[in-house]
Amino acid sequence: MPFDLFCLLINGVLRILHSTFCILIYSAYAPIYDAIDQGAFARQLTARILEHEPKPARALDLACGTGAATLVLAQTGCAVTGIDRSPEMLAIARANTFAAGVSASFVEADLRRLHRAPLPEDQFDLAVCLYDSLNYMRGDGDLELVLQNTARLLRRGGRLIFDLNTEYEFLAWDESDQVVYDDGTLLVYNRLTYEPSRRLAHGRIVWFQQNGQRWRRGEELHIERAWSDAEVLQAIDAAGLKLLDRRTPTYEAAPVAAPRLVYRCERRR
Ligand SMILES: C[S@@+](CC[C@H](N)C(=O)[O-])C[C@H]1O[C@@H](n2cnc3c(N)ncnc32)[C@H](O)[C@@H]1O
Repeated sequence: MPFDLFCLLINGVLRILHSTFCILIYSAYAPIYDAIDQGAFARQLTARILEHEPKPARALDLACGTGAATLVLAQTGCAVTGIDRSPEMLAIARANTFAAGVSASFVEADLRRLHRAPLPEDQFDLAVCLYDSLNYMRGDGDLELVLQNTARLLRRGGRLIFDLNTEYEFLAWDESDQVVYDDGTLLVYNRLTYEPSRRLAHGRIVWFQQNGQRWRRGEELHIERAWSDAEVLQAIDAAGLKLLDRRTPTYEAAPVAAPRLVYRCERRR
């Protein structure tokens, strides 16, 4: 088989695998994520967390991405460890903390296999997991597994704060097309579809970035699961955590049909 044809075939197979199994997310998209400042949500929520929760000496930023929350926590003098499975996101997180002149450590790991990561147990005062990162857990036992792994790392009484997109958010955006960013040299477009029967939201992110005279196109398919409140409460309890309350991202009391909920939990003593 001619080499060109072979490469084309491999490329096609990789594309099919990519869109079928949603591998390689937050890979090519990592620099775009930062360029359009998607860390803003985590920065604002972390500022709220620091206002309302006990001041942490040691913290974990789970699914830290490019390090938005890691940076805010590190700037308070807290010893922070950021964890993410995307090497591309972590490389930017490392560069961002270095550029800001703060120190933080980073671990490349899948949150579902956190028990294998080189992290001390019973040590952390606070763990955060922000910007719907836990919606990426799609398997039936995955949320509980991640919460269990996290609880083991927290000291007794230590807190875990995470937010989730709810089904109300996905229903509101079902079958929607949005240009989420356009500055003339970079355009980012999202198409969201929601399958209520499987409680899965498919977000197709497409971007066009100008490179001299040419435009480069990129695409990733992100799949999020809408965890019901009952499933979340069950996972919190099974992990040995206690729910303190649920808030909005601005830390107000959450309405019943909130599009996004912030869960505040504590490791049981
Ligand atoms: C929406 S981004 C949020 C990043 C960061 N928390 C923020 O607010 O900017 C979701 C992040 O979750 C990470 N992620 C998704 N599934 C993961 C998993 N199973 N283990 C570790 N990280 C994961 C992705 O690599 C990505 O960086």
